[in-house]
Amino acid sequence: MDRFVICGGNPLVGTVRVSGAKNSALPCMAAAILTQDEVTLENIPQVRDIQTERRLLSSMGAEVELGSGGNDHRTTICCRNLSDPVAKYEIVKTMRASSLVLGPLVARTGMARVAVPGGCAIGGRPIDLHIKGLEKMGATIVQEHGYLEARAEHLKGAHLVFDKITVTGTEDLLMAAVLADGETVMENCAREPEVTDLAALLMAMGAMIEGAGTSTIRVQGVTGLHGANYRINPDRIEAGTFLIAGAITGGDVTIADCNPDHLRAVIAKLEEAGTKIDVVGADAVRVRSDGHLNAADISTEEYPGFPTDMQAQYMALATQADGVSLVKENIFENRFMHVQELVRMGANIKVDGRTATVQGPAKLSAAAVMCSDLRASASLVLAALVADGESILDRVYHMDRGYERIEEKLQGLGAQIQRMGNVFPVREAEAFAD
Ligand code: UD1
Repeated sequence: MDRFVICGGNPLVGTVRVSGAKNSALPCMAAAILTQDEVTLENIPQVRDIQTERRLLSSMGAEVELGSGGNDHRTTICCRNLSDPVAKYEIVKTMRASSLVLGPLVARTGMARVAVPGGCAIGGRPIDLHIKGLEKMGATIVQEHGYLEARAEHLKGAHLVFDKITVTGTEDLLMAAVLADGETVMENCAREPEVTDLAALLMAMGAMIEGAGTSTIRVQGVTGLHGANYRINPDRIEAGTFLIAGAITGGDVTIADCNPDHLRAVIAKLEEAGTKIDVVGADAVRVRSDGHLNAADISTEEYPGFPTDMQAQYMALATQADGVSLVKENIFENRFMHVQELVRMGANIKVDGRTATVQGPAKLSAAAVMCSDLRASASLVLAALVADGESILDRVYHMDRGYERIEEKLQGLGAQIQRMGNVFPVREAEAFAD
């Protein structure tokens, strides 16, 4: 298992390019289930969760082709034969987003068997709202032996109101609705850009969808979808992580190939914290900091609020800000796993329920720390970039789930970060994957 060795202290300077959004690519790959034709996706990030999704689709009988050479961010999926519409536990346990295949499998084949995802480091991650929506569309769902078995000869359009805003729940039911009989109206939907990305692909495949990106989505079911070629949007969480890397190190970093519009909440907070941010044209943002940061509170919300996927990274920044920052996590009940590791590096953080109180600025000192989940890993990398001395981050496979070649990108900005391979046996990686 790999680890990172990071020597802190360098202000990051230069330009870094953002990869495609993992959280758009995952539902878009699942959308290929909805047609017998080929779906080609461009700008697919090369991260572990995407490999897992390829493995999942292949295990069901799909043909998944990878581009090579200059096309290595392209993948073509053909789901003509779905001989085994099952999402096996061995795969679902390493990536909860595997449950995204539930809706499209029932819509396309009339049946799906999907392992029930367990809890993970950041919270319970139930999929009850996916189930409730599919049942309302006429599916019969039975849960036994750790699997959900869903059947529906033909899904029917329905009026769905989500009890709670859910990103993959909105995506899963949207994919079910596009092939259902009649109209589906979905209310209290997630408005995340990843939902809009998926809807754009589905429309390119012939689906009739209105309102994606708002809280009410209307779908007129169609009898079949065709293939499409679609480019995935840039990853706003990767972009936000680099913005914080520039800010926390007192650097000057331009984040290229991003969508500044998707970063508004993060940009507003970094400006409040005293950094200078310039939007450069339609697809780049520059962050500059003289090293002095002010405390500023955040409260995670659904889009367009401050993303929960940026909370851990922001907390690393808050440890360097002058004063007290309150960090409130409203989306997941247990998303403070990074706190103890930051404290081991010298941060002054107290957690009370869903609120962390961060007293800064703290002088961070390098330490051996453990990554517990994807965004917690990013937080520890950021902290290590300003810590005094050489930090060692274990279990960076968590980071590899969602960040493409992160160490090379950071090296390009002047960071001292090295990947050391195969320190632990792979078995351990699997046991701890979330
Ligand atoms: C997605 C993102 C993840 C991000 C999260 C919140 C992907 C692959 N992952 O996760 O990176 O952190 O959105 O922005 O896109 N809930 C229920 N019942 C359900 C579904 C969700 O109670 O059936 C709850 C969850 O426990 C959580 C909240 O709703 O408290 C939001 O979860 P959700 O938006 O579904 O997160 P994911 O889609 O799993």
